[in-house]
Amino acid sequence: MLAIETSCDETAAAVVESGRTILSSVVSSQVDLHERFGGVVPEIAGRAHVEQIVPVVSRALAGAGFDPTGRPLPTTGREGRIGAVAATTGPGLVGALLVGVSFAKALALAWDVPFVGVNHLEGHLYASLLEEPGMALPVVVLLVSGGHSLLVVMRGPGSYEVLGETVDDAAGEAFDKVARFLDLGYPGGPAVERAAKGGDSQAVRLPRPMLAEGLDMSFSGLKTAVVQFVTRHPGVRTPDVAAAFQEAVVDVLVHKTLAAARAVGARGVCLAGGVAANGRLRERTVEACAAEGLPVFLPSRAMCTDNAAMIAAAGHVRLASDGSTSIGAGAEPSARFPVSPP
Ligand code: KG4
Ligand code: ZN
Repeated sequence: MLAIETSCDETAAAVVESGRTILSSVVSSQVDLHERFGGVVPEIAGRAHVEQIVPVVSRALAGAGFDPTGRPLPTTGREGRIGAVAATTGPGLVGALLVGVSFAKALALAWDVPFVGVNHLEGHLYASLLEEPGMALPVVVLLVSGGHSLLVVMRGPGSYEVLGETVDDAAGEAFDKVARFLDLGYPGGPAVERAAKGGDSQAVRLPRPMLAEGLDMSFSGLKTAVVQFVTRHPGVRTPDVAAAFQEAVVDVLVHKTLAAARAVGARGVCLAGGVAANGRLRERTVEACAAEGLPVFLPSRAMCTDNAAMIAAAGHVRLASDGSTSIGAGAEPSARFPVSPP
C-alpha cells in the first residue's frame, strides 16, 4: 500500500507491506516556511503540498523499489505492484488534506487499485503497533498532538473507546502557545523542551488542571497561568517557566494515563502523536509504568510526529474491514474520533 499524509504541515508518503513492514517512509517538513509566522499558515501549507507531493511520492515509491506506475523496478526482484493507495481524509486543514486526497484518488484510478480514506487520529494509534506488533491488548494510548489530546483504549484492530479528552486546548497547542508567548520559536514543543533543559521546574508554581477530575484534561488554564505568572514576575528566568510548564503538562498526562490504564485493566500503555516525542513525558511515563509493573511502549520520535507509514498501517486495517473508500469521497477537515468500528 502506498499512503499519503498531507493533513497539516508535513508532506509524507510511505509504502508499507501487509500493514506492518515499512518499505519506505518519506517526510518533507514545511517548518522553515511557517517559522516566521509562528504557526502553520493554511494557504502556504496547501501550496507547499502541491509543490512537494510529486517528489515525495516519487521518493517513497523508488525507495521501496517501485517505478512511478506502481510496478516493481526490475532490479529489486520484487513481484506484485502497489495494491492500494491510502490518504488521510481528516481531521486537518482542508486545503492541505485535499492535495493528498486528490493525488491518492488520481493514482488509485490510474493504477486501477482501491482508494482508502484514513482518519489521521486512527493513523496515530497505529504508529505504535507498527513498531511493536506483538503488544498485548488492551492497551491504553495517550494520543497527544497539536490538534488533539485523547486517552483511548485499544482492544483490537479497529476496536477502540475514547476514555478521556481535552475539554479545551490540545497539549501540543498549549506547548505551541506558551512557546510563542515566551518567544522561544516554532515549532513550540521542541522549543519549550530545549529551553526547559536549562531550567528548574520547582522555581515556578503552576496549577495541575483537572488532575483529580476523571480522565478528561484541560490545558488552556495552564497557559493562562503561565502568562499571569510572567506578567507578575517579569524578572523570572524563561528556562524556569518552560521547565515548570512542561512538568505541569507531563504531571497531568502521566497521572491520567495511569488512571486510565487502571480503570480498564490495560495490559500496556503507549504514547502517540507529536507531544509523545517529548523527552520528559517519555521519561516520566516509563518511570510511572515501571512503578506499577505495566509494560510501556514508546514509539520512535519519527513515528510520533506526522508520517505516512502510520496512515498505511491504519489503511490496511480499514481496507480489510470496510473495503475501499468511494472515489467520490472528499476531505473531512473536522472528522471525529473514534471512527465507526469496522
Ligand atoms: O502529531 P503532530 O506531528 O501533528 C498533529 O497532528 O498535530 O503533532 C504536532 C504537535 C505540535 O503541537 C508540537 O509542538 C508538538 O506536537 N511537539 C512536541 C514536541 N515535538 C512536537 N511537544 C512537546 N515536546 C516535543 N518534543
Ligand atoms: Zn498528527
